[in-house]
Amino acid sequence: MSVMNKLEWRGVSKQFGAQKVLDGLDLAVAPGRSLALLGRSGQGKSVTIKLALGLMQADAGEVLLDGVDVTHLPARERRASFASIGMLFQGGALFDSLPVWENVAFRLINADGVGRREARERAVEALALVKLAPDVADRYPSELSGGMQKRAGLARAIVGSPSLLFFDEPTTGLDPITAGAINELIRDRVTSLGCTAVSITHDMVSARVIADEVAMLDGGRIVWRGSAGDLDHADHPLVRAFIRGEPLEE
Ligand SMILES: Nc1ncnc2c1ncn2[C@@H]1O[C@H](COP(=O)(O)OP(=O)(O)O)[C@@H](O)[C@H]1O
Ligand SMILES: [Mg+2]
Repeated sequence: MSVMNKLEWRGVSKQFGAQKVLDGLDLAVAPGRSLALLGRSGQGKSVTIKLALGLMQADAGEVLLDGVDVTHLPARERRASFASIGMLFQGGALFDSLPVWENVAFRLINADGVGRREARERAVEALALVKLAPDVADRYPSELSGGMQKRAGLARAIVGSPSLLFFDEPTTGLDPITAGAINELIRDRVTSLGCTAVSITHDMVSARVIADEVAMLDGGRIVWRGSAGDLDHADHPLVRAFIRGEPLEE
């Protein structure tokens, strides 16, 4: 008997005008596993996640969350099924006009109907989990360093104890020490929440820390998949190029 996947893209295609981005993508993540999605810029990694979040519609195929196709659910049911998902957007994407705690508590207040006092307490707890002091709660995003903004974004992703987490380039633009701390935080949250995670990254160091498994997206499909430990023996030219940080051999 096979165990149901937490998340599965099945034959998913997506194009913008004449540009085909995803072309029959098949990818599945088992419960409690952490997957790193690798790929060159513009290959459709962010689109892959946005389709799973219902922020975009696929042209063909299905996205199954806990075995249920979410691409054709009515909006209200889709929102309900997304209640257990946390997301760290590329670039952090905090609201400039809201203090950090309201950013972190945004979903609690606006979707879950949690009162402001309790929401603030839970935001401060989430900030502590990503090693941000309580006084950060009342600051505005523009007053934080890039690394602290990423941590705040991470706190927002984990605040509702989600069972599925998406991270879109969580360490891009950070210095290696801050990036290392973010990677450890992600790994720690995934392990201690026991949740499933999909992380987009260009960074092989991150992939090895964050992920149990790695998948390479290219030309609209997964062209290589293996465990993080398989990376060093991978014979796929694109995977080798990523590991060595070298141009692709033609
Ligand atoms: N909303 C959109 N409208 C038109 N083109 C888009 C849109 N979103 C993404 N694309 C295009 O799809 C391709 C893949 O984008 P993306 O998923 O962001 O790539 P990446 O792998 O770097 O995350 C890019 O060429 C991008 O320009
Ligand atoms: Mg992207």
